[in-house]
Amino acid sequence: MLISETLNQAMNEHIGKELAASNQYLNIAAYFDGESLPELAGFFFRQADEERMHALKFVHYILDAGGDVAIPAVEAPKADIASPEDAARLSLEWELEVTRQINELMNLAIKENDHIAQEFLRWFVNEQLEEVSTMDELLTVIRRAGDQVLFVEQYLSRRGDPQAAEGVA
Ligand SMILES: [Fe+2]
Ligand SMILES: [Fe+2]
Repeated sequence: MLISETLNQAMNEHIGKELAASNQYLNIAAYFDGESLPELAGFFFRQADEERMHALKFVHYILDAGGDVAIPAVEAPKADIASPEDAARLSLEWELEVTRQINELMNLAIKENDHIAQEFLRWFVNEQLEEVSTMDELLTVIRRAGDQVLFVEQYLSRRGDPQAAEGVA
């Protein structure tokens, strides 16, 4: 097989992180839906789908490389979202955590001279730049809007979804 046991295990753990992020974004989407903020809800429903797609990419990579898929226990998301700022801060923290994990996977692939895994992981390295910058921007906009959350709704509806436009699900 093309994948070492160590990298296989680390990737399985990472699948749990992507799924946990997906669940967290679902919970955040539900919070915004409950607050009657459809643009923010839609944004996070799409983010949740995207994280699930990331998990699937790892599942297929492990299978293609001849490894064993073992989905780990997924930690429950934070359900008590206090405010839009709280939601955005939580999301940014998630993206930074996932970025650290992707970097660790890449370090492992480099250490093992696994060039195939490095090629696969490079997509995620680039994706994380986009993800962290998107969440960072959302947090800034939410902070600037203060109590006027409808400004954030307008901002999102004008901005559209650049990732959808790029064809990234
Ligand atoms: Fe992700
Ligand atoms: Fe993400």
